[in-house]
Amino acid sequence: MKRFYIETFGCQMNVHDSEKVAGTLIARGYRQVDKPEQADLILYNTCSIRDKAEQKVYSRLQQFKRDNRNGRVFAVLGCVAEQEGERIFERAPHVGLVCGSASYNRLPELLARIEDGDRRVTGLGLDAQETFETPVTQRDNPHRASLTIIEGCDKSCAYCVVPATRGPERSRSSQLILTEACELADAGRGEIQLLGQNVNSYRDPSPAAWDFVTLLRRVAQTPGLRRVRFTTSHPRDFVGEIVDAIDENPVLCNHVHLPVQSGSSAVLERMQRLYTRPEYLARIEWIKRARRQIAISTDIIVGFPGETQEEFDQTLSLLDEVGYDSVFSFKYSPRPNTPALALPDQVPEQEKGRRLLVLQERQRAIQIRRNSLLIGRREEVLVEGFNAATGQWIGRTSQNRTLNFTHASLPAPDGRTLVGRYLPVRVTRAGPNSLVGESADLI
Ligand code: SAH
Ligand code: SF4
Ligand code: F3S
Repeated sequence: MKRFYIETFGCQMNVHDSEKVAGTLIARGYRQVDKPEQADLILYNTCSIRDKAEQKVYSRLQQFKRDNRNGRVFAVLGCVAEQEGERIFERAPHVGLVCGSASYNRLPELLARIEDGDRRVTGLGLDAQETFETPVTQRDNPHRASLTIIEGCDKSCAYCVVPATRGPERSRSSQLILTEACELADAGRGEIQLLGQNVNSYRDPSPAAWDFVTLLRRVAQTPGLRRVRFTTSHPRDFVGEIVDAIDENPVLCNHVHLPVQSGSSAVLERMQRLYTRPEYLARIEWIKRARRQIAISTDIIVGFPGETQEEFDQTLSLLDEVGYDSVFSFKYSPRPNTPALALPDQVPEQEKGRRLLVLQERQRAIQIRRNSLLIGRREEVLVEGFNAATGQWIGRTSQNRTLNFTHASLPAPDGRTLVGRYLPVRVTRAGPNSLVGESADLI
């Protein structure tokens, strides 16, 4: 039996794609191993969103240079594969398979060619109309699962490689999605996350022609599901009905990730984000007016070409105005074949670094303040693990906050575990990135 090892870089879409790729291999009779040394086939599912992410795969490949003895095959999948294509063979001649995510349905055929001894096999190109469907999806987490609803991206943000690496939008049929949600719930996975680069532009290809909100409402009615999340929402396509749906059904988690990228309308225009600061803030208002308290998180890029100090200050003032519960912030990274490469006034690396620190410092204070508001409250967590070093169980709230807690009657896993259970926990302390609490609930 052939053995494979897969390592994944990048976003949740990639992590979930790897679960499907692993399923495809297992259905073909391969067995998954946890060390590359034990494998006949080593796959890297790669990310190209920033230069640092892209470089990771080359450093991995370097480690194994000239190591295709005994017929060991190296495969590069994902966004770097699609972006670099056959150039990967030049840079890393020991690679045998290069395949982008829009070609994953061809993996069985490509693998058959590798097994027949083909030295160089590629699955490239973005004209696939269909989505990646697998007979088996190899999910390791028994309590939480990802579920793709839409692949690709039809936007054209000036800095972003994704439209070129994942191709145009393709939605999965609502029937497939609902069936998968039912199977996950039946298998005891109470939390699911609906995935897409832009979930709001979901459009059911079946005659039912559901939009995203309809799909969301229906998925949330699946018997056995306790929590439904979704990511990512593009502000331009974010509609008020999403907030109504969250208000109506507590199964929908009270958390929205709404990437803003910049607080300056001028920068947003140069980024081709298709909304202005006031339009973005109007959507934030919808979320804040909800009956449930919905946590809000975002992504920000600092140092986009031409970003002035004043424009950067507007991003800082947006942080204050919104009061985000968490922020993922990045230095702008120039990417191949993107329009932003040609923009004038690239911001020096050092200045980008400075702005990033200023922004993160500002946000840290906001998070301490926001998390402190929860002290004294009871929050329901899904228990995800136990930290032996601190003696705390690790839980996650519906708002997607980490809540580390002690448990009165189960201070440590003594053959029993709380992992996978939903428990009420009283919040006692708050830090910038997590909460601390206590649970006395009977188990
Ligand atoms: N589809 C999602 C984002 C996917 S990429 C959306 O539109 O929100 C995740 C984040 O990476 C983006 O939100 C952006 O903040 C960041 N990012 C994308 N390209 C980047 C680049 N060239 N440099 C720095 N950060 C980038
Ligand atoms: Fe990239 Fe923009 Fe598409 Fe998000 S919406 S994946 S940032 S092009
Ligand atoms: Fe990276 Fe591709 Fe995801 S570039 S962030 S793995 S869509």
